[in-house]
Amino acid sequence: MDIDKVVRQHLEMEQFFSGFALKSKAGATEPQQQEDNPVPSEAEGMADPEKAAELEKVAEEVHQCRKCGLGSLRTNAVPGEGNPNARIMFVGEGPGADEDAQGRPFVGRAGQLLDKVIKACGLKRSDVFIGNILKCRPPENRDPRADEIINCLPYLQRQIEIIEPEIIVALGAHAARTLLNTTKSIGQLRGQFHEYYAGLGRPPIKLMATYHTAYLLRNYSQENRRRVWEDMKKVLTELDLPIPEQAKG
Ligand code: URA
Repeated sequence: MDIDKVVRQHLEMEQFFSGFALKSKAGATEPQQQEDNPVPSEAEGMADPEKAAELEKVAEEVHQCRKCGLGSLRTNAVPGEGNPNARIMFVGEGPGADEDAQGRPFVGRAGQLLDKVIKACGLKRSDVFIGNILKCRPPENRDPRADEIINCLPYLQRQIEIIEPEIIVALGAHAARTLLNTTKSIGQLRGQFHEYYAGLGRPPIKLMATYHTAYLLRNYSQENRRRVWEDMKKVLTELDLPIPEQAKG
């Protein structure tokens, strides 16, 4: 076994999940942009008011929705949030307790880990769009039921149609299986690009499936973190985005 290589990979992976500086093209190290001191990115600078208004309309409908029983159990619906011009759209399973309390996606522990993944990619949360298959929390965070998915999915489909992301990152088995209409396991689906069909006459959107950050928290092994890291590197490469220097490998 090449111990040096193992140690190097471990350190790179630790940096991937704990944030780091980005190297500029000239080679000088620049501090990474912080969410609390945002400099508008290219995507934000071109924010499209029509897309934002359409997304707002979907969000309003979600807030009124009573199509399934979850509507009467929620504290807040969680329509999703982010950049209307996002090149990457993350899709999770459904809100948990923290998301239900705040009405925002991925704000609990799994969300904090997703924030780290986004930051490690050299991006900010406001560069991407974050949504879910279900817009309301299932009791005790149980798995989504088929009838709930059938009722709720049109909201996410419309969000995808409006945003037209270049890549969808499906977080976990429920998101990946639903969007790809398959029963395959996340282990079989992750790590490769699939095609999501947004409708007749629309080009398919590339979809990368990876582990849900909640799964990663429960199974925080070096191997699982490395797998998510590998999946995200493929996404960055596909988008011609730089792989932050310290996360290469
Ligand atoms: N898990 C999800 O799938 N979605 C959230 O918004 C939060 C946790």
